[in-house]
Amino acid sequence: MLRTHTCGDLTINDLNKEVTLTGWVQKSRDLGGMTFIDMRDRYGITQLTFNSDDNAELRAQARELGREFVIRVTGKVIERSNKNLKISTGEVEIKVSNLELLNAAKLPPFLIEDETDGGDDLRLKYRYLDLRRNPVRNNLVLRHKMAQEVRKYLDGLDFIEVETPVLIKSTPEGARDFVVPSRMNPGEFYALPQSPQTFKQLLMVSGFDRYFQIVKCFRDEDLRADRQPEFTQIDCEMAFIEQEDILNVFEGLIRQLFKNVKGVDIPEVPRMQYADAMRLYGSDKPDTRFDMQFVELTSIVQGQGFPVFDAAELVIGINAKGCAEYTRKQLDELTDFIKRPQIGATGLIYLRHGADGSLKSSVDKFYSEEELKKWSAAFNSQPGDLILVMAGHKDKVRKQLSELRLEMGNRLGLRDKNVFAPLWVLDFPLLEWDEDSQRYHAMHHPFTSPKPEDIAMLDTNPGEVRANAYDMVVNGTEIGGGSIRIHDRDLQSLMFKHLGFSVEEAQKQFGFLLDAFEYGAPPHGGIAFGFDRLVSIFAGLDSIRDVIAFPKNNSGRDVMIDSPSTIADEQLKELKIKTTV
Ligand code: AMO
Repeated sequence: MLRTHTCGDLTINDLNKEVTLTGWVQKSRDLGGMTFIDMRDRYGITQLTFNSDDNAELRAQARELGREFVIRVTGKVIERSNKNLKISTGEVEIKVSNLELLNAAKLPPFLIEDETDGGDDLRLKYRYLDLRRNPVRNNLVLRHKMAQEVRKYLDGLDFIEVETPVLIKSTPEGARDFVVPSRMNPGEFYALPQSPQTFKQLLMVSGFDRYFQIVKCFRDEDLRADRQPEFTQIDCEMAFIEQEDILNVFEGLIRQLFKNVKGVDIPEVPRMQYADAMRLYGSDKPDTRFDMQFVELTSIVQGQGFPVFDAAELVIGINAKGCAEYTRKQLDELTDFIKRPQIGATGLIYLRHGADGSLKSSVDKFYSEEELKKWSAAFNSQPGDLILVMAGHKDKVRKQLSELRLEMGNRLGLRDKNVFAPLWVLDFPLLEWDEDSQRYHAMHHPFTSPKPEDIAMLDTNPGEVRANAYDMVVNGTEIGGGSIRIHDRDLQSLMFKHLGFSVEEAQKQFGFLLDAFEYGAPPHGGIAFGFDRLVSIFAGLDSIRDVIAFPKNNSGRDVMIDSPSTIADEQLKELKIKTTV
């Protein structure tokens, strides 16, 4: 080894030891006849001192070192006169007797410090430098710890980690596939897996019984803070189980992660029906760190001559506790917020429940004090509260109010990153109507089983059929989802039929799975967690980008390696792909 210790090792207990350390020059400063250098590695920072009186030549050599030079020093551990008790090595320094330059460095394009001056794209272009910074490296250390903890937990329960292929065939799971041309089969393409869904089901048919994999998945979809084109799942499947078993095993996983990685005790995870989540929070991934549930006002407010409410399918609101004193400006800000194109609402009605008990609304013209008392009773409002009401089409207005609820949660400081509120959302609809293609799509995926008691409705009222499907939500983010699968060929064929597949199409796309179901498929089900999302929540970050070593930017580009990129005509020719020019 080139070193005897790391830059995070040495403390007051090591005084007078002769040591050799390696690392990067974080910064240096001159003071009279002395030069001080902070040397950094993954483990910490150690202060080096060079004194002209001891060795003028060595000190001159030290003064030549620039930021991020890689050096190796030998010297004696001595006590620091000016101690820094914030870091573990802060009571000592190394009085250097030998300095070796291992590699010089160009001036980095941004500060390699916890607070940097580098913009997003610059940091991504030089990601290897960004990764030298503590906050970024710590995220990856956290990710590593969580992956180890996941393996420990699942291995302890007899899950077997199996690798499934990356060059597969297109499977319809909502997003677009990334495709890879096959040189040996001209004109044909592999697809990169959006998830190992069908393979893990086949492993159940093979009798593996309990499978998991920490696995890359690929989806060609628009990027957001919590979406990357390639991301990682903790993908799991079990045979001979019921939904309750899956919920228990994986609630256990999440609780163990919180306990062993963050030292947080999570009580039993509450469960909520999908229908209730939509009704009370307008979202299938409610942030339950705070209450502020929706209250329906439709029957109370209609028929009083206010056209907006009378024309609405649904009138709903939330009680923003303690906000009665909001100024005109603050209320206008909220109105502007919901009118933004991303939300698209037309207006906001309010009712102030004044500290003196008065009720004052923005639609006093239409509603007498007696009527407003009914509103107040519906919300159980107290003096000092502000009731915010919206009206419109049922699904749309719920979504819009959900955004306003989150905004109010932010404004009122109710979304503390150190508070964790996991939640199971259960009984999702099986199918979802798609306006564009004018047909039903599987809400989760086509292999999800309907609730047996709802199967009869597949023909009469497909939108109402509930699935044995569940999501885990933490703080308003969907961190995982899964279902009990269909394991019967006839039922799977029926599902494909309802999804608009002809018998031939279903056989062509999924014949392998349908065939497998004829060779003794056990009842099975599973779940996949979004590993990046889980890590980012543990790290208290808004974007999953920060927990991925080499992420893509918002346009799906890797700006460091400059990808995607064009390929040579030769390569295209070999792949039998026609060029457009
Ligand atoms: P689903 O599509 O719900 O289910 O994905 C599982 C979890 O993966 C995460 N996730 C993503 N994370 C980052 N970037 C993305 N683009 C992205 N897309 C999804 C989410 C999500 O909850 N095969 C099924 C699972 C199953 O049924 O067992 C599946 O993939 O956190």
